[in-house]
Amino acid sequence: MRQAFRASILHCLADPGEASDPAAYEFFEDGLLIVRDGTVATVGPAEPLRHGLSEDVLLTELPDKLIVPGFVDCHVHFPQLDIIASYGEQLLDWLYRYAYPIEARFADADYAREVASVFVDELLNNGTTTALVFGTVHPHSADAIFEAADARNMRLIAGKVLMDSNCPDALRDDPISAYEDSKTLIERWHGRGRLGYAITPRFALTSSREQLSAAGKLAREYPDVWIHTHLAENREEVKEIARRFPDSRSYLGVYDEFGLLRERAVFAHCLHMDDEDRSCMARKGGAAAFCPTSNLFLGSGLFDLAAIRAAGIRCGLGTDVGGGTSLSLLKTASEAYKVLHLQDHALPPMRALYLATLGAAEALYLDERIGNFLPGKEADFVVLDPGGSRLTARRVAAAETIEESLFALLTLADDRHVAATYVNGNQLK
Ligand code: GUN
Ligand code: ZN
Repeated sequence: MRQAFRASILHCLADPGEASDPAAYEFFEDGLLIVRDGTVATVGPAEPLRHGLSEDVLLTELPDKLIVPGFVDCHVHFPQLDIIASYGEQLLDWLYRYAYPIEARFADADYAREVASVFVDELLNNGTTTALVFGTVHPHSADAIFEAADARNMRLIAGKVLMDSNCPDALRDDPISAYEDSKTLIERWHGRGRLGYAITPRFALTSSREQLSAAGKLAREYPDVWIHTHLAENREEVKEIARRFPDSRSYLGVYDEFGLLRERAVFAHCLHMDDEDRSCMARKGGAAAFCPTSNLFLGSGLFDLAAIRAAGIRCGLGTDVGGGTSLSLLKTASEAYKVLHLQDHALPPMRALYLATLGAAEALYLDERIGNFLPGKEADFVVLDPGGSRLTARRVAAAETIEESLFALLTLADDRHVAATYVNGNQLK
């Protein structure tokens, strides 16, 4: 089956950086994206490409729309959907007051399935086509999110949470069940369709040494499985880690000692780190998820993108719902701009787009499959509509360049501006 989509088309080829390198992205004002059997065949200017289309190609004309690659969310908790926007606490209190109680409800598998289904539809509603997702401690929470993604043929990575210490009894597993349940889930889901498994220790505060060892053993036994956890988010958390692991050089050092720092390991937040941590993370191939709405909402701190990228660390945006306040990577990018602005750094719109697409795909080691429109990549894309609200219609009409239009959209747009979301060439919004 062959399809072609005619619209303005924008995608990144590399990190445009703080200087917004024009060689790092391609923009076709009147472009054509040709898709064959769910993968990208070609992208380029509509003239002359459209004249070479054979009769059997289904052409969709999208005047005044902008096609960009599907957004990739590098860190989000599906079970926290119903506690998004909960008032008043910083991380450690917020976990007890809001996150743990809602996660305890996932003992009910029917509830888990219902939330998983709504969650993936909300991702698609916001133009997100791939995500790295936390479940709860319950193995069936991972089944629920994988079933929901598989039913929509989405590329999605998830895992059952490992937590056996410093948490409510109702959410506790143990080192042996954590190992065995994760192994069963890996065998069931990893590599099935477009799905991947992530070994998911919640953070070093909620796992015993025995459990961290079990997670490290799994990580060695399954080198192509992902690792997904939190790192250095909150100052009280970092102090607590230093108390519990007095012999470790740093918070990152704890994960490293247990074999949890390697390629395909993704660390949410990475706020309170030093240069030695950053060079260690870069050397071992770990990645950082930059979660600006969460970092502001929970009062955690300001992400230092310049230091992370200067060290050579892979980085993508994460929404971190429910600590984060939106599933929209447009809104997340806008908050990222403000976080960097506060630190006298720039976030040009092309780099923001990179962090939500190709950069995030690189962070997840998925850039050979998704992240832009190079031929052979999976056709996951979003049709953005500047006319999604009266204000954006006016603002974008007044813009003189694609950079100006894109920046206005990042700052002002939300799910109303996602006119359509395509997954593997199929329209799901
Ligand atoms: N650290 C450990 N668990 C969590 C969580 O659920 N959310 C966030 N933001 N940080 C965490
Ligand atoms: Zn999180």
